[in-house]
Amino acid sequence: MEENKKVIFSGIKPSGDLTLGNYLGAIKNWVKLQDDYECYFSVMNLHAITVRQEPKDLRRRTLEILAIYIASGIDPEKNTLFIQSHVPAHSEASWLLTCNTYMGELSRMTQYKDKSKNMGDSSIGAGLFNYPILMAADILLYNTDLVPVGTDQKQHLEIARDIAERFNRLYSQTFTIPDAYIPPAGAKIMDLQDSSKKMSKSEENPNGYILIMDPPEVIKKKISRAVTDSLGVVNYSDDQPGVKNLINILSAITNLSPEEIVKKYEGKGYAEFKSDVAEAIINELEPVQNKIQELMENKSYLEEIYRKGAEKANYVSMKTLRKMQKKIGLIPR
Ligand code: AMP
Ligand code: TRP
Repeated sequence: MEENKKVIFSGIKPSGDLTLGNYLGAIKNWVKLQDDYECYFSVMNLHAITVRQEPKDLRRRTLEILAIYIASGIDPEKNTLFIQSHVPAHSEASWLLTCNTYMGELSRMTQYKDKSKNMGDSSIGAGLFNYPILMAADILLYNTDLVPVGTDQKQHLEIARDIAERFNRLYSQTFTIPDAYIPPAGAKIMDLQDSSKKMSKSEENPNGYILIMDPPEVIKKKISRAVTDSLGVVNYSDDQPGVKNLINILSAITNLSPEEIVKKYEGKGYAEFKSDVAEAIINELEPVQNKIQELMENKSYLEEIYRKGAEKANYVSMKTLRKMQKKIGLIPR
């Protein structure tokens, strides 16, 4: 029975074109989880606007992410797919939680520290600072048990748990305490040019990342240029971070363990290894790319999906929001 399934919530923000990191670290794992959980997958457009977005691009990317979810194999009939801004309870719950969150705990968030590092106080948006509260609202409104995300989001999940526990303590049991679910492979795909940074769509050097929409020639070129080392042996070791990252990518795509991959390339050089990595990525992404294009040409279908998703999400989240309002002492209307 669906009622007994545990709840999963996750989402990606449309602040740039999605990378292989998003695909392997997030979406590909969601596909595996959809049969065993009741899943909400949302497009986090309210999180995207914590930094300035070109309205036209934001609109296009919002729909594109929805198309990517579906093209990657997330079944819109079985899961609730919706656009965050279509569900007002997220913004409202976020305010109620803001009043139960401290400046101190928000200032400790590494994502905030990284993003605001080179900005003066007068140019750091308050939304960037409050970002984790909105994320806590997203998660807590659905009584979420598990949140599948990459390692970079672990700290945001911890603050969501802290906020939930505090609210439960102050106002009596209200929220389920969510757990992070970090996938074994693909948890952190690193930049192809600088293995100390995660692969990110906001990186300046495009050779550092592979986009979900990159054509085959571009993927081949980027992988062949990926930084390795002069050892020339395919080993899974921290001393060879570039090679390790490529093994992680291959492992996440093929489901082979790093050990099995190392064994397979014993006595072989980087050229053959890299060419196989590129081929695996291309074979994985090509059908997804074709499906995305097809879906983007069928806006009315996408509209039907997100409308239906918003209806369900509104129903569930409003119930939690009303509970919060009542406990805090707001008069129900
Ligand atoms: P974002 O693009 O920041 O909205 O991230 C969306 C999801 O993709 C989150 O679950 C991230 O943890 C995941 N993600 C983003 N970049 C990477 C990466 N380089 N490796 C693994 N997961 C990633
Ligand atoms: N902050 C997440 C990221 O950058 C995106 C996000 C927003 C999210 N709300 C969420 C992820 C709720 C999981 C659950 O990756």
